[in-house]
Amino acid sequence: MTIRVALLGFGTVGQGVYEILQNKQKQLTDLIGEDVEICGLLVQNKLKERAISDYVFITDNFEDIINQNPDVIFEAINGEEPSHSYLKEALDKNIHVVTANKVMFATYGQELLEKAGKYTSIGYEATTASGTPVIGTLMNLLQVNQITKVEAILNGTSNYILTAMQEDGKPFSEALQEAQDKGYAEADPTNDIEGYDAFYKLMIVSQLLYNRQPLWSEVPLQGISHISEKDITKAKQQGEKFRHVATLELVNDSIQANVQPISLPSSHGLYAIDGVDNAIDVTGDLVGSVTLRGPGAGKLSTASAMVEDFVRIFQASPVKQLS
Ligand code: NDP
Ligand code: HSE
Repeated sequence: MTIRVALLGFGTVGQGVYEILQNKQKQLTDLIGEDVEICGLLVQNKLKERAISDYVFITDNFEDIINQNPDVIFEAINGEEPSHSYLKEALDKNIHVVTANKVMFATYGQELLEKAGKYTSIGYEATTASGTPVIGTLMNLLQVNQITKVEAILNGTSNYILTAMQEDGKPFSEALQEAQDKGYAEADPTNDIEGYDAFYKLMIVSQLLYNRQPLWSEVPLQGISHISEKDITKAKQQGEKFRHVATLELVNDSIQANVQPISLPSSHGLYAIDGVDNAIDVTGDLVGSVTLRGPGAGKLSTASAMVEDFVRIFQASPVKQLS
């Protein structure tokens, strides 16, 4: 049999998924035991020139994608809607889903996970810290531990900008432009530089760890756009560096969350996390403190998380069971 794959979105991430599916065909077939075929691509503007094989069917209508009978949909478009509605429809039709869309998943993730029935799965590793396997680690490797504290850098663009400003003396605007050119920033970078992107990822982590999220309106939230050269010079004089830090803490069964830039001393574990990297430190009651570090944004890193999810889904649930 052949696994039929549909892609929603062909921007930075969608192109990365396409490249990996093309370049690693044989390895994927060996891992899953089936051939993999791209049966459709959904975009906003279907007239745009794309570096994609002629045989791939391109549309701007989601129903055309459904009519291609995909076994799995990779979703890499922007914003809550129409992504949420598309994925709901896909799950209703027993199509597996792999998503990178953290804005959508922070709000609708739980609903979609509940909707995924016996034969459908949702992969969402790419929503949080790109290719760094935060979700899989928390989901599969730390199940018995009670996680009492999370301290993390969860936005690659902010960390890239702070690093460029602090290490290379670059102005904010130049560093942001570089992050956009490299495909790290969102189409509208407001969510990156004002802290919302890290907030959404923190809410996904909260949902996974505690099966609930703090009341969004009660989470102190600040981005990095107000940090001035003067602030940076002052931090430097004290031997410190700014990092954009997202925290969760379980206090008397209440989840306390915070997202803000902090000037950290060199003794702090997040001080040395530079460039586009993200890091997450979780404290478990049994294991103590565990830190994961890796790329927090980018084409192949994010697509890597999606394709790894895809392989896991089809290793666990062969395509034959779906139809
Ligand atoms: P881009 O802006 O580069 O690409 C978005 C793609 O989605 C484009 O192909 C666009 O079509 C298509 N699209 C947008 N809206 C719609 C719609 N309503 N219907 C159909 N197609 C649509 O985004 P990225 O690839 O950077 O990001 C995609 C998703 O992945 C986002 O949710 C983002 O938050 C997430 N993500 C991004 C990471 C990154 O490093 N860039 C990392 C982790 C997650 P068209 O080409 O016609 O304009
Ligand atoms: N814009 C996001 C970031 C992409 O910079 O972290 C990864 O989710």
